[in-house]
Amino acid sequence: MAQLVARLVRNEKVRGSIPLRSTSYPQLMRLVAWLVFVPLQLLWLPVSIIGSVVVGIRQIFGSRRLGVSQTAVEIINGRWAMDVFGLADQSEARRLARVLPNTSTAALGLVLFPLWLSRHVAGGPFVYPTARPHAALASVNFVPWRTERIDSVLDNHTDVQQYVILGSGLDTRGYRQLAGSSVRVWEVDTAENIRFKKLHIAKAGLNTDSVSYVPANFSDDSWPDSLRAAGFDDTQRTVFLMEGVTLYLTRDQVRQTLRLARSLGPTGSVLLMDLYSSDVVALAQRPLARRTLALTNEEVHLGVNFRHQPLTEIDEVLSGIRLERGRVELLAPNRRGGALMAVVECRFSK
Ligand SMILES: C[S@@+](CC[C@H](N)C(=O)[O-])C[C@H]1O[C@@H](n2cnc3c(N)ncnc32)[C@H](O)[C@@H]1O
Repeated sequence: MAQLVARLVRNEKVRGSIPLRSTSYPQLMRLVAWLVFVPLQLLWLPVSIIGSVVVGIRQIFGSRRLGVSQTAVEIINGRWAMDVFGLADQSEARRLARVLPNTSTAALGLVLFPLWLSRHVAGGPFVYPTARPHAALASVNFVPWRTERIDSVLDNHTDVQQYVILGSGLDTRGYRQLAGSSVRVWEVDTAENIRFKKLHIAKAGLNTDSVSYVPANFSDDSWPDSLRAAGFDDTQRTVFLMEGVTLYLTRDQVRQTLRLARSLGPTGSVLLMDLYSSDVVALAQRPLARRTLALTNEEVHLGVNFRHQPLTEIDEVLSGIRLERGRVELLAPNRRGGALMAVVECRFSK
């Protein structure tokens, strides 16, 4: 077991790991996995606590010291886990995470070891990370679920040559998945986050051939001009991606960002975004969470009430913007208080 832990902490692939996106496996093995997981996790608790403290301190205080987003770290940690657990190929995220000073993949490996071992026993996704979470586990699986959902929508739009990632954070799609010889990817984020990302993308040795960086802030209207100045062609059909961003903006800022994005692409372009339920936003607005986010100048605003008429609420966000609601995916739609989040495809209409 010590060897297995060491390999996980060193970020090594383990031979015989689980096939990507496996979905069916015997119920008996799941039961055995629970029998392994519960006692192991109890014994492992001190290690998990120390590991979590290390990850948390690096994420919050490391990001504060560097002047960058702590929430972007949360996402790359999730994608690191997706790759390590064999849920999806996120090898670029894994390489980037390893060189970031504001996370610790070694500590993450220690925290997640009981889950990782149990997943191998179960022979498929087990508790976390999973892209098809049971409702009770949905709230810990935001990142795998939305990453997988968005990737699947992106797979339907491979015929475009321009991608704009709004609030790109530490997203690594531009370094392989969306990259191509005739494809351009623009990453838009605040100047501090862009500077930090460029530095660490170089350290991780990722291929930046397709990527251009656009420092900008969605609270003013100048980012479309910066995008054009960075070579964006507004006559070409484009996919805009705004993942994990809307909740950090006010409703007016989200609508203005959507309006500006709409003004940038011809009919046939697409914008993908996720929206969060008012319940999720209320949790992140509690005093401790609010104070923690404030350490990196982040705060949450837009929550959508998904309790009764989620589609009507989504249409309300889009109203008057010439964006037509396409495919909508809801996380935990049968939850009593309504879905936790939505991934929304918006088509550019005339
Ligand atoms: C939770 S991260 C998501 C990152 C990325 N989209 C992903 O899924 O990996 C949110 C990102 O949005 C950026 N962001 C938030 N508000 C912004 C604003 N007003 N202008 C520009 N970027 C913003 C943050 O800097 C951060 O990098």
